[in-house]
Amino acid sequence: MIDLFEPVARACAIEVPVAHRRRIALVGAGAIADVAHLPAYRSGGLEVVGLTDPDAGRAHEVADRHGVGTVYADLEELLSDGRVEVVDVAVPASAQPAIVRRALESGRHVLGQKPFAPSAAVAAELVALASERGSVLAVNQQLRFDEGMAAAHEMARLGWLGEVTSLTISVDIWTEWTSWPWMLEVDELEVWNHSIHYHDVVRWFLGEPSTVFASAGRTPGQAPRGETRTTTVYEFPSGTTALVAAHHENRWGDQSATFRVDGSAGSVRGTLGLLYDYPSRRPDTLEVTSEVLGTDGWVPYPVTTRWIPDAFLGPMASLLAAAAGGEEPRTAARDNVGTLAVVEAIYRSIRTGTAQAPLLGGGMVVK
Ligand SMILES: NC(=O)c1ccc[n+]([C@@H]2O[C@H](COP(=O)([O-])OP(=O)(O)OC[C@H]3O[C@@H](n4cnc5c(N)ncnc54)[C@H](O)[C@@H]3O)[C@@H](O)[C@H]2O)c1
Repeated sequence: MIDLFEPVARACAIEVPVAHRRRIALVGAGAIADVAHLPAYRSGGLEVVGLTDPDAGRAHEVADRHGVGTVYADLEELLSDGRVEVVDVAVPASAQPAIVRRALESGRHVLGQKPFAPSAAVAAELVALASERGSVLAVNQQLRFDEGMAAAHEMARLGWLGEVTSLTISVDIWTEWTSWPWMLEVDELEVWNHSIHYHDVVRWFLGEPSTVFASAGRTPGQAPRGETRTTTVYEFPSGTTALVAAHHENRWGDQSATFRVDGSAGSVRGTLGLLYDYPSRRPDTLEVTSEVLGTDGWVPYPVTTRWIPDAFLGPMASLLAAAAGGEEPRTAARDNVGTLAVVEAIYRSIRTGTAQAPLLGGGMVVK
């Protein structure tokens, strides 16, 4: 039985062939650059030639820790370095679009963070600029490369579950929002900054929903202004449904983060190990039961890598493959416009109390 997992493990492996490797520079040297981007790129054999951050002390500290040779005074100095072929952005969301625009104008390939843009319309503008300049533009929605989730997706793609009928992601955790002071002040918090990963994965498995219906809540005494609890129900034209529920104010120590995909011939169920103590607690778990495979009940799939840092190599590897002439990145910005349209529909639903259809590209044509 274990032999059957070999093609799944191969599909989940993240490697960067030497011929794909290009020199990277990083904009933003905050927590995620330090614990995820830089370790992942090193393990993938990628060279980060320099970085910039307005906090110069932090920039030097992170550069020293990871052996990054150059600290630039600012973005313009970074872009004037002819060695830089790919710009990797890891800054607070509000600062990102201007940086992505400048990097694309300079002719670089660009990997943006999630949330990629403040609206699907702005994202669509950036996608259009990238295609005008012939640059690859992708988004760091790396849950699509997290091994537990990627293996579940591959099992569904191989037909082990039959026809997929439902997907559920349920997260009940404590999130230390004070680690990101800029997140404490936003009115719309949870979906833009956390659950966007789950909504992106729902689209990866199931395509575009016909509607989403969502509600949001807060907990007395919570640190952030915005919502810390959201529940979203999806309907798809095929009749498939999905549920994403995320609660960040679990103060009682019994964290849980589970996902499940059900089909007419089998199911997969798993846990997102990262969320049992952010930022690295444990690997995911994954089990499958399948009439197609003839499993005798639930069979565990051996997950051997982690969301942080391992999955962070995925979006960059896939961008580099596209830059080398391969197919669109798995997390292409062109596709991410659809994820942002879902996020916007979720907030419209929260505001109106009604189910909402995502408006792709905010009504813009995405070329
Ligand atoms: N799993 C994930 O995908 C994941 C996880 C955590 C954070 N993030 C995202 O990564 C981004 C950064 O998060 P973080 O945890 O590192 O936050 P952080 O607050 O630790 O760091 C942000 C850094 O960006 C720098 N910065 C601000 N404006 C800048 C600018 N104009 N140019 C260059 N640098 C600038 C700040 O000085 C700071 O060092 C956010 O968009 C966040 O949503 C993604």
